[in-house]
Amino acid sequence: MDYAFKERIGKPELFTGRKEELTYFLKWIDDIKEEKSQSTAILARRKMGKTAILERLFNITFFKNDGVIPFYYEIKENEMWVGDFCQEFFLTFIYQYIAFKTRKTSYLGRDKRNSLKDAKQAAINEGLDYLTGLIEDVEYAIHHDYVDMLWNTVREAPKTIAYSENEFIVQIIDEFQFLNAMIYWDKAKKNPADTLAGGYLSTAESKIAPLLISGSWVGWLMGELNSMLPNRFKYEYLENMPEDEALELLYKYSRFFEVPVTEETAYLIIKISEGSPFYTSSILRSRYKHKDLTTVKGLTDTLDFETLDKRGNIKSTWMEYVHAAFSKVNDRNAKRIVLHLFKYKDRELTREEILNQLKLDMTDETLEKKLDALVKGDIIEQGQSNFRYRAVRDNIFDKVFRGVYQDEIEHFDVKDIGKEYAKSFEKLKRQYRRLQGKYHSQKGYFAEYLILDQLTYRSRKNNDLFKAVTRYLPGDFNFCEYSRVWRYDSSPEYSRSFSVDIFARAVRAEDYSIIGEVKSREVKKFSMEEVIDFERKMAEVKRLEKIDRAVGFIFSRCGFTAEAEGYCKEKGIACSEDERWIG
Ligand SMILES: Nc1ncnc2c1ncn2[C@@H]1O[C@H](COP(=O)(O)OP(=O)(O)O)[C@@H](O)[C@H]1O
Ligand SMILES: [Mg+2]
Repeated sequence: MDYAFKERIGKPELFTGRKEELTYFLKWIDDIKEEKSQSTAILARRKMGKTAILERLFNITFFKNDGVIPFYYEIKENEMWVGDFCQEFFLTFIYQYIAFKTRKTSYLGRDKRNSLKDAKQAAINEGLDYLTGLIEDVEYAIHHDYVDMLWNTVREAPKTIAYSENEFIVQIIDEFQFLNAMIYWDKAKKNPADTLAGGYLSTAESKIAPLLISGSWVGWLMGELNSMLPNRFKYEYLENMPEDEALELLYKYSRFFEVPVTEETAYLIIKISEGSPFYTSSILRSRYKHKDLTTVKGLTDTLDFETLDKRGNIKSTWMEYVHAAFSKVNDRNAKRIVLHLFKYKDRELTREEILNQLKLDMTDETLEKKLDALVKGDIIEQGQSNFRYRAVRDNIFDKVFRGVYQDEIEHFDVKDIGKEYAKSFEKLKRQYRRLQGKYHSQKGYFAEYLILDQLTYRSRKNNDLFKAVTRYLPGDFNFCEYSRVWRYDSSPEYSRSFSVDIFARAVRAEDYSIIGEVKSREVKKFSMEEVIDFERKMAEVKRLEKIDRAVGFIFSRCGFTAEAEGYCKEKGIACSEDERWIG
């Protein structure tokens, strides 16, 4: 696939998982052509991966070129004069539109501070003359300082074009809340344009150019949407990743950034991060000087740094929320309330309980206001009813918060937090060891990643050994140099998407690529049906990747049924259950 639009995540292959979300939103985008899709808001705290998904959706939609034109704009967290903002917003749209229509991706990189005149010329050069009227309207509004008219025109521009050209456009607007928080009516930036989002009241109902927006200030944005744009958006909460995706992310970052992990520390990181791509990537990429993720002690120290040190990425991200919320309700009681809720992490407390347990000297009304502000600031969560509240469900945030405030409020030694991590890890370690026990071996819980490592780093050097522990390889087979060794996921744009555990592409055409499947089940041998299923997937990978010479390889921890074994032998599909593959 062509990733025309440069994604912030870095190398496109770093993007991992989010299968369910991509499938859902790609269908949502496809349904725009049937005018079935309703404007939607993706809500999740900072760094949960919203931008990663939205940029990927842009790229897939752009590449697919199948009747829906993508427009992506991120509202930045910088204060801007409305005139500058409108021009940037508009030029981003115009250039992305021209890029899509002409398939010339160089337009995507155009400087958005460029003049409108250049954009007009580009439209004419490309035979898209119908854009010039709109560009002139914008020029006129800017020239006369008609900022209301300017905002109306640029906000409606995607819809206007979709309507006049009989086209469909998806308007992806990232960090929507900043529209009401960062833009000013005047150049001196004294007069906040805090009603801009309200302009979407009718735009957001459009079925030919619906909006897909995101927001990191979840509580606050929902408040704004409910009051300014009632019923215009469906809400979708972006959750943590499922464990298999988080695991892939971990191993990918480990390899890409050359930060080794062991199977045990990988297990601990996955469990403590609970599938948060942000926590996982922050631990792997931590700037802690003595970072060593191959020992439990090293991992504990790294997490300590990330949680308690102001240079820690995790701490600084959370502190942005904490500062924003406490700039509104800065008092001791608010901090006490948050600390108190952390003590009852698994349940909701009513306002009455909070009032009594903390012996707060305030009316219920005052307390409600305080709690509301904390909910809006994403520091605590609303419970099942408006009377109930609970702590954010997160292993790590409470430690960041307590690291900053618990000493001040409850005279508590911050070092104890490090001990808490050590204790959690002890418990997880026992869990991990129990799992290993089931395999009667030291390793193998994440067998597929261990095998990927063997192929990357060791198979060629130990060609004879690995050949000796693998049956039915072709006579002229040798392990070779691979340009890529990873899992393989057919792109989400294929309707019947599938994956294989191993895809190692040989550098030279005369060598064999390897396409493989790994099963580390405790019982249940690899069956005939599974081999046939694998064969089908293998053929598909060969076709999609245009590979002639490839060998199929199945690693099955507890072996093969006689039937499956016979079939593999006949078809020349390599088999192994040998420990040395994961050793
Ligand atoms: N699907 C993903 N694959 C790989 N890394 C991810 C993914 N989602 C998030 N990340 C990591 O988390 C970081 C924050 O993600 P981002 O999309 O910027 O979050 P948000 O837009 O919600 O603030 C990224 O820079 C990346 O390191
Ligand atoms: Mg973002």
